[in-house]
Amino acid sequence: MKEMPGRRSVFSLRMAADYRWKSFMHRTVQMKKVAVYPGSFDPITNGHIDIITRGLRMFDEMIILVAYNPNKSSLFTVEERMELVRTCLTGNNVRVDCSSGLLVDYVRSKGANVILRGLRAVSDFEYEFQMALINRRLNRDVETVFLMTGYQWFYTSSNLIKEAASLGGSVKGLVPDLVNERLQQLFGKAKE
Ligand code: PNS
Repeated sequence: MKEMPGRRSVFSLRMAADYRWKSFMHRTVQMKKVAVYPGSFDPITNGHIDIITRGLRMFDEMIILVAYNPNKSSLFTVEERMELVRTCLTGNNVRVDCSSGLLVDYVRSKGANVILRGLRAVSDFEYEFQMALINRRLNRDVETVFLMTGYQWFYTSSNLIKEAASLGGSVKGLVPDLVNERLQQLFGKAKE
């Protein structure tokens, strides 16, 4: 049978569109949603763990980035902070890393485009807003996503934990057990 003029071209256009769609879907399905969760983690608290656990429901993989400034003092060294984070987390969709450079550069170097941050009280908002805006100004391809902290962890911060522990207060239940042990080694046993 003689083919009608124009039929072949419609058929091959459909084939090409089908191929393009399949290859787009293949790439999309293969592309992992990776988020970077940066912080000082000096030390990691249960509030951080809550954000990581909930973040993992939204992202295929998370990189917990211990960001450090060599000119700033900290209670735990970068290596200790990374070890504590690693020990307190399980699962192969979480990676722990460190960096002293620009956050957005780190995020792009990992092929990611999301920074995840937790928001506690209103007082966090101004600082977080400024940071999200400067990061956006530095790289428009990187978005900051916020998760509201769980209400149990509303007042939990690494700084308050360190202060309470250094004055003999108990921080049991606010930090992972291993962190509590390390704090007690440094500051002595707390009053329960
Ligand atoms: O747990 P923190 O201390 O609130 O975390 C703050 C942190 C580490 C996320 C922030 O200081 C940071 O992003 N540092 C990396 C340097 C950087 O890129 N700063 C923002 C643009 S100037």
